Amino acid sequence: MKSFIMILLTFSIDGSVGLKPLLIEPKAKVEQDVFSCPKSCVCQYAAFEKLPIVRWVKHYKAIGGNKDDYSKLTKLATCLLQPNGETQKLLDSLPSDLQALILLYTGGNQENKLSVNASDFGRLQQLTSLEFRGPGATMVIDEPMDFLQHANFEQIQLHASDTLQRPKFAKFPSEDYDYKPPSELLSYNNKYPLQFINSSAEIITYEQHIQRLKRTRMPCFYGWSRLEVLRIHNCDLNELHWQMFDGLTHLRHLSLEGNNIREIPPFAFSGAFQLKSISLAHNSLERLHYFGLAGLLQLETLNLSDNQLDQLSELSFPPLPKLLMADLQGNPLKHILPATFWVMNATRELYIGSDKEALNLRTWNFYGQFDSLHKLRTLKLGNVTTEALEHGVFMGLHNLECLTLRGTIKSLQFDVFTGLNMLRELDLSHCMIRELSMDALVGVKQLQLLNLSYNNLTNVPPGLLDDQLELKEVQLQGNQLTFLPLQFFNLPRVRVVRLDQNPWQCTCQMSSWVAHLTNVMRGSMKEICVKGNDNTLSCRNVTTYKIDKTLAPRCANYNGRSVYYVLRRQINCGAIKIIQPSYQSPGLPHWRKVQLQGINLRPMNRNQQNISHKKQANSLLFVTGQDKVLSKSQPSSLNIFNNI
Ligand SMILES: *[C@@H]1O[C@H](CO)[C@@H](O)[C@H](O)[C@H]1NC(C)=O
Ligand SMILES: *[C@@H]1O[C@H](CO)[C@@H](O)[C@H](O)[C@H]1NC(C)=O
Ligand SMILES: *[C@@H]1O[C@H](CO)[C@@H](O)[C@H](O)[C@H]1NC(C)=O
Ligand SMILES: *[C@@H]1O[C@H](CO)[C@@H](O)[C@H](O)[C@H]1NC(C)=O
Ligand SMILES: *[C@@H]1O[C@H](CO)[C@@H](O)[C@H](O)[C@H]1NC(C)=O
Ligand SMILES: *[C@@H]1O[C@H](CO)[C@@H](O)[C@H](O)[C@H]1NC(C)=O
Ligand SMILES: *[C@@H]1O[C@H](CO)[C@@H](O)[C@H](O)[C@H]1NC(C)=O
Ligand SMILES: *[C@@H]1O[C@H](CO)[C@@H](O)[C@H](O)[C@H]1NC(C)=O
Ligand SMILES: *[C@@H]1O[C@H](CO)[C@@H](O)[C@H](O)[C@H]1NC(C)=O
Repeated sequence: MKSFIMILLTFSIDGSVGLKPLLIEPKAKVEQDVFSCPKSCVCQYAAFEKLPIVRWVKHYKAIGGNKDDYSKLTKLATCLLQPNGETQKLLDSLPSDLQALILLYTGGNQENKLSVNASDFGRLQQLTSLEFRGPGATMVIDEPMDFLQHANFEQIQLHASDTLQRPKFAKFPSEDYDYKPPSELLSYNNKYPLQFINSSAEIITYEQHIQRLKRTRMPCFYGWSRLEVLRIHNCDLNELHWQMFDGLTHLRHLSLEGNNIREIPPFAFSGAFQLKSISLAHNSLERLHYFGLAGLLQLETLNLSDNQLDQLSELSFPPLPKLLMADLQGNPLKHILPATFWVMNATRELYIGSDKEALNLRTWNFYGQFDSLHKLRTLKLGNVTTEALEHGVFMGLHNLECLTLRGTIKSLQFDVFTGLNMLRELDLSHCMIRELSMDALVGVKQLQLLNLSYNNLTNVPPGLLDDQLELKEVQLQGNQLTFLPLQFFNLPRVRVVRLDQNPWQCTCQMSSWVAHLTNVMRGSMKEICVKGNDNTLSCRNVTTYKIDKTLAPRCANYNGRSVYYVLRRQINCGAIKIIQPSYQSPGLPHWRKVQLQGINLRPMNRNQQNISHKKQANSLLFVTGQDKVLSKSQPSSLNIFNNI
């Protein structure tokens, strides 16, 4: 009874939005009476976008959902099924023009099983969305629900009846399929262990095959010809078969999470060739053969997270020419074999790594592990475990913009990111990094965010950031740093330098530190508009930054007081020294620059360049100059940092 009330409440809140346009007076009757409704149901008009379907399928429109229907009002009934109730009667008493139905079965236990036949819904020919949830309930598919566009089944059993029509045997899809991965083409099979030797179907007659499917009562959605979204979560659907989704030519989104599926049989989805997204997250897949996902030429997102895949290779994926995102997290992958992703040359986002197994990144002789991912923008690798991340591991990622690594990486070697010409965000936080090569970032020139927080760094090599002229944010909080190289703050565009949670040994060298860079956090975006000469408004979104005194770096040798406090009050450093930033020969390794500096005693000075005042605002000279002026004329404005 308790749950009944809760559901009532939820829907009357939800429904009021969709209801408004229909009511003549604002304080009209409750929505149950809007149309005739059986006792155990709540009926209402709801905007389509309020239906669960839109909630489950993020970016429903993007996967091909009907845009016009989005705000259309839909006749929705939410019904509680009773253990001994007469479900058939209930369904018969629903209005025949119902468009969306949610069935909840809550009384389920060993004794109280409930079974509903698909044919029982036959009267509701206008039903486009069906949700059926509840442990202990069974849906027997005895005829196709050819009216449904969206179906969601959660925690129920799905069975086919013996009498269900199955697709007529045309021919096994493999006959048309001529893709061969490189190793099969060039037959260096024995170089890599094949994972799925028994890939082709066993040879049995079609009749035998149908008999077998009937015996297993494996559900089949053959004939659900309008289906666009099918979601079967936690329904014990532990086997798949190509016949199951055959002919679902309108299907765009298929989610089969939490079903204990162990294998994707050959051509499992090829009959639903318009699919744009598939999720098999939270299953028990142990291997993947390219026949499994064959034929999905429209697929844009593939979620295989939280399975048991322990090896992937170039035999794992068929061509997926439109694939934009692949989530492989939570699989116990130890290596990434070369050419694994060679079919993903259009993919933008890739996620790998698990807490089950450490991921070892390495270089391979003739084909890199990320080769062919030419369009990849975002790569996230978890639990990367390696002594030293070497030059070449990220070879081929020419368009990568965001790279996130987590794990145990003791050191980053020289040139490790070379070739990542478009890299904007590099997040290496929580990687236990102890050592960075001073040339680790050589070749990376577009970097805006460098996150090295929560590592085990004891020093930052001088010259590490020499080429980072675009860098806006450096995160070094949570390390074991005691000092920084002298010219560290010498970054033309930097806005945030996080240094807190380090055991700083404070000395006068820290006079060049800048409180309004260290004690600051990135805030939200803000739209700023300016009127042009012709009175037109031009707007752009800018990042805001907010001061946060709790972020002040602290001196381990002065009782944890803020660096700025110690410098002003506890150490007498004399006048603030202005360090001349030198900008020369970007792109050279640091040792070469040091060498050049020895020879060339005329470094180009920022003062001599014709830089607008605004642009200069972040430069060290401007900053330190400003500091001096302020500290003389308006001491109060700097005092915000004094008492931290
Ligand atoms: C479902 O259909 C079967 C066979 O057609 C029938 O025996 C059974 O009673 C039906 N169940 C319900 C709940 O209608
Ligand atoms: C392939 O089939 C054979 C015989 O049916 C079996 O012994 C073997 O374990 C199978 N291999 C795989 C990888 O499933
Ligand atoms: C993949 O599915 C899991 C489980 O639903 C979800 O948590 C995860 O966010 C999905 N991955 C992506 C990249 O959307
Ligand atoms: C991906 O590779 C295939 C085959 O090599 C090629 O036909 C296709 O144009 C490539 N796509 C992109 C986006 O580079
Ligand atoms: C990384 O993998 C190991 C197994 O090799 C596991 O014990 C550890 O918990 C994982 N670490 C994380 C952070 O997930
Ligand atoms: C840097 O990494 C830390 C730890 O993972 C995270 O909390 C923080 O948000 C990251 N900073 C930025 C700016 O992304
Ligand atoms: C590395 O740093 C983490 C916190 O960032 C700390 O818990 C750990 O003890 C450190 N390990 C070593 C070996 O210093
Ligand atoms: C700024 O961001 C807002 C919200 O993300 C967006 O609606 C707006 O179009 C953006 N404006 C510009 C000029 O990009
Ligand atoms: C500096 O730049 C301004 C415009 O940005 C230009 O008018 C001026 O001539 C430049 N001065 C020199 C010395 O180049």
